[in-house]
Amino acid sequence: MSCRTAILISGSGTNLQAFIDRVASGDLDLELSIVFSNRPDAFGLERARKAGIPTECIEHGKYPSREMFDRAVAAILDVYEPELIILAGFMRILSPWFVAHYEGRILNIHPALLPKYPGLDTHQRVLDAKDEWHGSTVHFVTPELDAGPRILQGRLRVDPNESAEELQHRVQAIEHQIYPEAAGLVGSGKVAFHDGQTLIDGDMSDKPVLRTFE
Ligand code: GRF
Repeated sequence: MSCRTAILISGSGTNLQAFIDRVASGDLDLELSIVFSNRPDAFGLERARKAGIPTECIEHGKYPSREMFDRAVAAILDVYEPELIILAGFMRILSPWFVAHYEGRILNIHPALLPKYPGLDTHQRVLDAKDEWHGSTVHFVTPELDAGPRILQGRLRVDPNESAEELQHRVQAIEHQIYPEAAGLVGSGKVAFHDGQTLIDGDMSDKPVLRTFE
């Protein structure tokens, strides 16, 4: 049975589209059960509708606290009994309550080689630091932002002459490959979260799987 998966978005949803395409092509065994957005105008909702995936939206501004919003989101998601929660450009910091509710079942992708560059504006920061490598990281979500145990990283060599925008595009292309791959590993049980760590085939792994791209 495929792993029931909820995808949470706030924006354009190119990562969501990568999941949709991989599932449609038959090489990703997830059931995309629900796409949730906190913004009604998120283009990703269109992508989901076009693919025949149920969509739900509630706006965070209508809730008095972060946790009350998160509890409302979980009440919606839980109708679909998700086994995996994919954050795909979901621009909300999650409450400790939400993270505990789905402990070890939430994945995020962050456009940097974590633990380097948590937070925003990663591409410009990489260029400013003249780093040789940049990329993106899929990790389990823990209460601390961008700090959960890593699963898979995709990296590329930085061209010192490229703009932050060009670098962002190249990193996004990597994300579209590594995020479905990492979710498939978790969905199939090959990779799991245990005691705050990533297990690969049952063994603790403090290093993520690393893929290098041209
Ligand atoms: C991605 O670059 C991801 O790294 C970050 O949010 C962005 C989402 O883009 N967490 P999209 O909505 O999937 O196009």
